[in-house]
Amino acid sequence: MSKYSIESIKKFKINGQKFATLTAYDYTSAKLVDKAEIPLILVGDSASMVIYGYDTTIPVTMEEMLLVTSAVVRGAEDALVVADMPFMSYQASIEKAIENAGLFIKKAGAGAVKLEGGIEVCNIISSIVDIGIPVMAHIGLKPQSFHQMSGYKIQGKSLDEAEKILSDAIAVEKAGVFAVVLEGIPSELAEKITNSLSIPTIGIGAGPHCDGQIQVFHDILGLFDTFIPKHTKQFANIGNNISQAIEEYRNDVTSGNFPGKDHCISIDKEILEKL
Ligand code: KIV
Repeated sequence: MSKYSIESIKKFKINGQKFATLTAYDYTSAKLVDKAEIPLILVGDSASMVIYGYDTTIPVTMEEMLLVTSAVVRGAEDALVVADMPFMSYQASIEKAIENAGLFIKKAGAGAVKLEGGIEVCNIISSIVDIGIPVMAHIGLKPQSFHQMSGYKIQGKSLDEAEKILSDAIAVEKAGVFAVVLEGIPSELAEKITNSLSIPTIGIGAGPHCDGQIQVFHDILGLFDTFIPKHTKQFANIGNNISQAIEEYRNDVTSGNFPGKDHCISIDKEILEKL
């Protein structure tokens, strides 16, 4: 059993305690994130880009998300693992949404699912919650609506947009989500939403007033430098370290310095002579 549950995540807000959450996509990174006492790991559909190399989150499939989710579940002992439902795994019908949410819980072992959308997906959210699967919502900048938004654009800057996002937040809470991700919206709007809800808000590009924050593993570690979003901070530059280490390895092999004596296994002299 994981140490953290949806109840523990809700308690952070009740206790006025800010919390950090992070994505992960494989066993090894999940173990590292878990060791750092991150209470919630999101297996984001950002896997589409950082793991599978697609341009957006749109192409990633259920099969691809199930694979990475089950690896993360095996690595995360304490954290609550939330699986991101990929584009078109929940929009077409409630039956399909329930079936796919169920696969993340039953087959991959996740503790909850996340899906994008506000008022327009509340019937889907409540149907999944009603059968006993916790749901986290994701509103504001919704990467799966890339084409609808004409690109990744900050949302909620006009009165109409801000009112819509606030209504979305209130609606998803009513529909039963245990937390809501606020992405790419002005800090002041995120603060208003955070103060209006009794469930935690988890921000990414939504300022400091959210109850929690979420970031992409590769972004904060400097692993993925083709695009560095404004909302992120690189806490390390592991990408450079990895490149340097690989170059050193290549040089040591080509110059004959590796493997050295310490890395070799010897056979008994007598056996060698008989060979
Ligand atoms: O897919 C993802 O990684 C996300 C978060 C960054 C919120 O949805």
